[in-house]
Amino acid sequence: GTTLGASAAEKGRYFGTAVAGFKLSDSAYTTILNREFNMVTAENEMKMNATEPQQNQFSYGAADQIVNHARSRGMSVRGHTLAWHSQQPGWMESMSGSALRQAMLNHVTQVATHFRGQVVAWDVVNEAFADGSSGGRRDSNLQRTGNDWIEAAFRAARAADPGAKLCYNDYNTDNWTHAKTQGVYNMVRDFKARGVPIDCVGFQSHFNNDSPYVSNYRTTLSSFAALGVDVQITELDIQGASASTYRSVVEDCLAVARCNGITVWGIRDSDSWRASQTPLLFNSNGSKKAAYDAVLAAL
Ligand code: XIL
Repeated sequence: GTTLGASAAEKGRYFGTAVAGFKLSDSAYTTILNREFNMVTAENEMKMNATEPQQNQFSYGAADQIVNHARSRGMSVRGHTLAWHSQQPGWMESMSGSALRQAMLNHVTQVATHFRGQVVAWDVVNEAFADGSSGGRRDSNLQRTGNDWIEAAFRAARAADPGAKLCYNDYNTDNWTHAKTQGVYNMVRDFKARGVPIDCVGFQSHFNNDSPYVSNYRTTLSSFAALGVDVQITELDIQGASASTYRSVVEDCLAVARCNGITVWGIRDSDSWRASQTPLLFNSNGSKKAAYDAVLAAL
């Protein structure tokens, strides 16, 4: 293929990007988006603060615009994200206990129902594990409602949209030897053993000098896949955009049968949440970087 999406499709995969809704009026941006990608993740527009800014008042306009842009052009959509400790609306940040648990489950149900049939996969829960050596859960208002909050969210999402793949998504879960990776692995193994509805695990893969790409990444992907879930690279960016590191990431995904797609977290370097790291595949002027050529060649 001559584009990222077409080449990935030839390998039975997708190649996606995060999209910021306000950039859809930038024709330089949409030209690359529409040409190269066949999967879209809303960068912020499906998060809890965007979709339920006031309790029980749902706001889908910005997300719907992205979904419509993508689907009308034959691209698929990953939903991101139903439950997260971050980017909560203010009303939720100050809640706790059973009221918060009910509000979270209502949010999952309402949002997954709204987008039913329009998203191929949901990041049901994002970033619920702690950094460091504990291997345990991150403290948050959601975690303090009880350790079963994650499986409750997955069950609510399955009931609301039985056709969507349901994913757990996190960062710094790339290195197989790290406690956080093992913590998530043990949760997924437990969910599969007990019949909690989980279909996929997303590896954000924000690689930088503090959390670099490591060669055991392929072992991590294949080990999770062996639990009976799909694995997806959901938010890829690489500080400095080393062509050889991008190539390794693509090769690792292609080496794992259940690694069914890669999403980069933005199009041009100027679109990146970490723009100063120039971590993406396109220069700020829209031209292709060496990393782009390496990815296309590896696909
Ligand atoms: C980031 C967005 O890119 C920024 O625009 C926003 O200000 C903060 O969130 N992990 C995730 C993503 O799951 O949702 C985050 O996106 C990046 C880290």
